[in-house]
Amino acid sequence: MSAFSADNPLRVAIVGSGPSGFYAAEALFKKSDAVAVDMFDRLPTPFGLVRGGVAPDHHKIKNVTKKYDKVAAHARFRFLGNVEIGRHLPVDEMRSFYDAILFCSGAETDRRLAIPGENLVGSHTATEFVGWYNGHPDYRGRIFDLSQEVAVVIGQGNVAMDVVRILAKTKDELAATDIAAHALEQLAESKIKEIHMIGRRGPAQAKFTPPELRELGDLDGANPVVRAADLELNPASAEELEHKDAKPNRENMALMQEFAGRDPGGKARRVHLHFFKSPVQILGHHRVQGVRLERNALSGDAFKQRASGTGEIEELACGLFFRSVGYRGRAMPDVPFNDKWGVFPNEAGRIGNGLYCAGWIKRGPSGVIGTNKPDAVETVESLLADQDSLAPAELRNTGILIDRLKDRGVRVVSYQDWQKIDAAEVARGQANGKPREKFTTIIEMLEALK
Ligand SMILES: Cc1cc2nc3c(=O)[nH]c(=O)nc-3n(C[C@H](O)[C@H](O)[C@H](O)COP(=O)(O)OP(=O)(O)OC[C@H]3O[C@@H](n4cnc5c(N)ncnc54)[C@H](O)[C@@H]3O)c2cc1C
Ligand SMILES: NC(=O)c1ccc[n+]([C@@H]2O[C@H](COP(=O)([O-])OP(=O)(O)OC[C@H]3O[C@@H](n4cnc5c(N)ncnc54)[C@H](OP(=O)(O)O)[C@@H]3O)[C@@H](O)[C@H]2O)c1
Repeated sequence: MSAFSADNPLRVAIVGSGPSGFYAAEALFKKSDAVAVDMFDRLPTPFGLVRGGVAPDHHKIKNVTKKYDKVAAHARFRFLGNVEIGRHLPVDEMRSFYDAILFCSGAETDRRLAIPGENLVGSHTATEFVGWYNGHPDYRGRIFDLSQEVAVVIGQGNVAMDVVRILAKTKDELAATDIAAHALEQLAESKIKEIHMIGRRGPAQAKFTPPELRELGDLDGANPVVRAADLELNPASAEELEHKDAKPNRENMALMQEFAGRDPGGKARRVHLHFFKSPVQILGHHRVQGVRLERNALSGDAFKQRASGTGEIEELACGLFFRSVGYRGRAMPDVPFNDKWGVFPNEAGRIGNGLYCAGWIKRGPSGVIGTNKPDAVETVESLLADQDSLAPAELRNTGILIDRLKDRGVRVVSYQDWQKIDAAEVARGQANGKPREKFTTIIEMLEALK
């Protein structure tokens, strides 16, 4: 018999309110009647990358938050927004309030290319640009010089595709989305004409998915440009494409073949897809003036092909440079961290000592929203299997914790508070013909609660 009951539930803190946090809470409630969840987020707004990552022109995907609202309506769920764990509240102090702590804190920083010139003015990360156009308070003040005519984006995942598409879209295409007002204003004046998306491997290995690639062919103000010669496959790539699970790759190839046959003229912008090229240096003195690219050759067996430099170099003039080569988790005081992989080391979600993790901080920055559901379920199963061996928390009362946070000057934001912010954003959006007009600073969000 478990020591926990509906009157004295297992107290679980979830750190992070993105998809993995909500799927973990949902699984806890489904699998146990004797659990209470307090979900923390450093922002006053929930939903992690569903709010701050998913592209503004992919609004339908954000409907998943309706499912998260249902989880939040559970009688033993509490949201404590605007509380940063590790800053306002140390993990070791949390232990006195919770029997288990489940980290769902995502991968909030980015991988570097580690090439000269990465710190020049005009060299940016996808993380910054995405955060900026999505109104994430951390990136509100970033400046992107959109008076430039040529932009380079390194990487061929779906994040790189989002960056390229937002740069390529017209004001009218963006105006009816929930893009942040400051970003819309500046993108409307953009002088960008040429966008180069650079992949280190070939078209068969590109990580973007067919619906996203297809969109590139349907833009009002930009045409895709693909060189037919880049679509010739080596035997290992041909073998990869024949695999039963390679349907998306085959669809990508078919789309690119169609793009290669198109006339790229007639629209104000062009999106060039490059393959087999790696940046070796970002050129410029104070600010970005170009990029030096090395031609690659693929080697290795099918599905294990690696790109290595051939020594053949070309230079491409550009004024804006973005790297989109993957995200990376952040370390947290009092929690073990694998610095190489940027994740919390774990086995089936167990970090040890009453600590657990799910989502991107558990497995690294890959997978769509739905991938986090089975991942969170696995962690919850580990946690519930361990429940009787966990060191019980002494202070089994969130009210005391909230008072402590208040004494530290923290304005804890409840789910009801978030719903007020949400309603205010939606009302502001209606006035502008948008699904919502986001508040983009924490001060504005808290002002909306007065
Ligand atoms: C730019 C981008 C676009 C994407 N678009 C799509 C898409 O269109 N469709 C799709 O299916 N998938 C998309 N994905 C993937 C999807 O967003 C992820 O799979 C998913 O968000 C990962 O969930 P998570 O809960 O692990 O992390 P996150 O969503 O990042 O959530 C982490 C949460 O933890 C909080 N947090 C972090 N540190 C602390 C702390 N110290 N204290 C308190 N809170 C903290 C953060 O504020 C955040 O709310 C996209 C990803 C990116 C990067
Ligand atoms: N619409 C959507 O559904 C959507 C939108 C956005 C994000 N997401 C998901 O979110 C996850 C993260 O996306 P992501 O785009 O950040 O990651 P990703 O899919 O892993 O793509 C990363 C890209 O960066 C390249 N890369 C890595 N290191 C590099 C280097 N040193 N030099 C040059 N290129 C390098 C990779 O090439 P290699 O293949 O050679 O490693 C790959 O093309 C993915 O699972 C994605 O599907 C989904």
